[in-house]
Amino acid sequence: MRGVSIIGCGAIGSFVARAIDEGLVPAALRYLMDLDRGRAERLAASLARQRPMIAAGVEEVAADPATEVVVEAASQGAVLQYAERLLEAGKELVVLSVGALLRPEGRRILERYRGRVHVPSGAIAGLDAVRALALAGVEEVLLVTRKHPSKLMDEPYVRERGLRLGDLAEPTVIFEGPAEEAVRAFPRTLNVAAALSIYAGRQARVRVVADPRAARNVHEVFVRSRAGELRVTVENVPHPDNPRTSYLAALSAVALLRDLCAASP
Ligand SMILES: NC(=O)c1ccc[n+]([C@@H]2O[C@H](COP(=O)([O-])OP(=O)(O)OC[C@H]3O[C@@H](n4cnc5c(N)ncnc54)[C@H](O)[C@@H]3O)[C@@H](O)[C@H]2O)c1
Repeated sequence: MRGVSIIGCGAIGSFVARAIDEGLVPAALRYLMDLDRGRAERLAASLARQRPMIAAGVEEVAADPATEVVVEAASQGAVLQYAERLLEAGKELVVLSVGALLRPEGRRILERYRGRVHVPSGAIAGLDAVRALALAGVEEVLLVTRKHPSKLMDEPYVRERGLRLGDLAEPTVIFEGPAEEAVRAFPRTLNVAAALSIYAGRQARVRVVADPRAARNVHEVFVRSRAGELRVTVENVPHPDNPRTSYLAALSAVALLRDLCAASP
């Protein structure tokens, strides 16, 4: 059975830990790590079967020979801080904060360790087809993300510009730009733009719509290629533990990890 450690014990990290605890992912949970140590400790104490250790820093996880796979469910900063160390130590890495991989340091990590850096489909769908279309050459990639203003208010782009989204009466485009810019402007909301760009081998164009009538987080993907066109719409239900995260994103991490662990001898 493969050993898995988790960095980031919020909504997604906790969901993954429980999936391992319940046997949905056939793995041994080795370490939990979080900037808020209490959070990692409370998660560990809540598990029924697994008895993970709490890591004070990434070195402990990197030095653990039994950890084969590390799930990052923390932040873009965490990816940039820890990924290289973990990959150098031979670990496989499942990255949720995918936006980090569009930054120059992140791109270098992806190029160097591509086979061991795994990007789940997250809150969108159709990435298998996007990857296939990329082989024929992708001419256009567009992502339109529609969210209720309350889900966007904490993002740096909105705060820095002092956008008063609470006053909106109609759906309003508040951002349009390349994925690289989008993941800096909306680091929590637009990891999907990074995943889409990585699979397409080309930067997505991103439009963000603040919609006071949106009950769900909606992502519309459009890809044009010589081999055909792809349109995918995903309507996400918020995660019960963190309304800013889509339930599907947590499920996609578990589905990917399940494959990685089931594939082990
Ligand atoms: N790929 C996708 O489609 C997708 C979808 C949703 C969320 N995400 C991303 O996944 C990540 C986790 O999401 P979540 O909803 O579980 O977030 P969350 O806020 O519920 O939990 C994040 C946890 O990580 C911890 N953390 C942050 N930085 C850290 C660091 N440097 N080292 C250790 N711990 C750190 C925080 O203390 C917190 O407990 C976020 O970056 C989020 O943007 C990706």
